[in-house]
Amino acid sequence: MAEYWCEESFLKIRLLILFLAIAWLAASIVLFNSIIIYPASATETFKGREIFNANCASCHIGGNNILVEHKTLEKEALAKYLKNYDTEPIQAIIHQIQNGKGAMPSFKNKLSDQEMIETAAYVFQKAEKGWNNE
Ligand code: HEC
Repeated sequence: MAEYWCEESFLKIRLLILFLAIAWLAASIVLFNSIIIYPASATETFKGREIFNANCASCHIGGNNILVEHKTLEKEALAKYLKNYDTEPIQAIIHQIQNGKGAMPSFKNKLSDQEMIETAAYVFQKAEKGWNNE
C-alpha cells in the first residue's frame, strides 16, 4: 500500500511539472506575441526608445541616416531597401541590427536579444506613424 501511494505521488509530481512547463511555454508565447504583433503598445512599456536614443540616434536621428542619406528609417525606405520588410518587418529590422550592413556596425555583442526586439519594435512603430508625428 505504501509503495502504491509512493508511485501515485510521483505521478502527481510529474503531472505538476508537466503542467508548469506548459504554463511557462504559454506565458512566453503570449509575451513574445505581445512584442511582435503589438509593437505599438509594447513600446510604451518596453525600452525601445531609450535603446534607440543611446545606440542608433547618432546616425539615425529623427529616423534619418547621416551616412547614407536615402536609407532612412521611414516606411518607404525600409520597404525599399530592407529584405523581407513587407512580410516580416520586425524580423527584418532585427536582422539589420544583428548583422549591420555597409557602414552600419553589428550590435550582436552590444545588445541582448530582448533589447534588439524592443528597438526593432520601436523603429517599426515610428516608421508606421511617421517619425515626425509624436
Ligand atoms: C555608425 C552609424 C550607424 C549606427 C550607430 C546605426 N546605423 Fe543603422 N544604418 C547605418 C547605415 C550607414 C545604413 C545603410 C546601410 C546600407 O545599406 O548601406 C543603416 C541602415 C539601417 C536600416 C535600414 C534602413 C534602410 O532604409 O535601408 C535600419 C533598419 C537601421 N539602420 C537601424 C538601426 C538601428 C535600430 C540602430 C541602433 C541599434 C542603428 N541602425 C545604428 C548607420 C548606422
